[in-house]
Amino acid sequence: MVRDEKMKNIEVLAFRFSPTKSFFILDQTLLPEKKKFISINHPRQMSKAIKDMKVRGANLIGITAAFSLAQYTYKNPKAKDILSLARELKESRPTAVHLAKAVDKVLKKKSPLGKLKQALSIYESDRKACDLMAQKAQSLLSKGEGILTYCNTGSLATGGIGTALGVIKKAFKKKKDLHVYVCETRPCNQGSRLTFWELKQENIACTLICDNMLAYLISQKKIHKAFVGADCISLNGDTANKIGTYNMAVICKHFKIPFYVVAPFHSIDASLKKGFSIPIELRPSKELSFYWSQKGADIWNPSFDVTPHKLITGILTEKGFFKSPIKI
Ligand code: MRU
Repeated sequence: MVRDEKMKNIEVLAFRFSPTKSFFILDQTLLPEKKKFISINHPRQMSKAIKDMKVRGANLIGITAAFSLAQYTYKNPKAKDILSLARELKESRPTAVHLAKAVDKVLKKKSPLGKLKQALSIYESDRKACDLMAQKAQSLLSKGEGILTYCNTGSLATGGIGTALGVIKKAFKKKKDLHVYVCETRPCNQGSRLTFWELKQENIACTLICDNMLAYLISQKKIHKAFVGADCISLNGDTANKIGTYNMAVICKHFKIPFYVVAPFHSIDASLKKGFSIPIELRPSKELSFYWSQKGADIWNPSFDVTPHKLITGILTEKGFFKSPIKI
């Protein structure tokens, strides 16, 4: 039995975790139609849930992988397969650096209780980082602005209020009267299914657009700033994020719209000098062809792209603003 004040249960939008008992994640593939939690009883199940994007978002996959591995070790202190399960977890999605970092941090702790505490601390520091980033970003926003965002970067992608979406939610609480334009984010539609849903839950004024409407929308003078998240940042400030983020940055540059990346400091991979070294996940072709089928169609489905630092106005972390090159 864990006897520690800090080892309390956690119940947030994306998961429910009880250190010694159960672990449930919200199946995000069913949103917004259905809100269903599924239980995770083994790290192998967790790897599959991450791969299938039942749970997703750079920060959140790190947190949930850490919880799953730590809980498994706690319940099976003599298990011999921890290292191979950790490897499977790390390989389940290759782009977000948060996943490998979180799993390695849990592995480093010797005792099962130490591993549980580590997982909890990964969650807690993510939650706090989201709050701090949202607070620090408020000076960038003025009343009545039109804001662009991409993919989902809210409570369904993090342990807290979110990265880019956290900034927007905080501004709403401060009555900045923003209007948010949400890109659909093909092919998995995290924008239309998840971000739009999260914003609607909080009554934040928002409009959904298809990804290919961006240039026309901005030309209508409706947009003042863009905020996106990050799955991995190299030392020169190049940033991997959901496929299509690069397009948005190019278009913003064309129209002189400030383009901000909001991500916790550990999104920076200090082992990577430039963005082209960031591993880009290729996903199944059925994500593009699910509503039509042509046998033998050649389909390319990269899940992320890398936005060059020259297109990024600033990278906001809980430690403050960074510009290229990043000094650690
Ligand atoms: O494939 P996903 O849905 O996991 O991609 C998520 C994103 O690209 C987010 O923008 C990113 O994780 C940063 S916010 C935590």
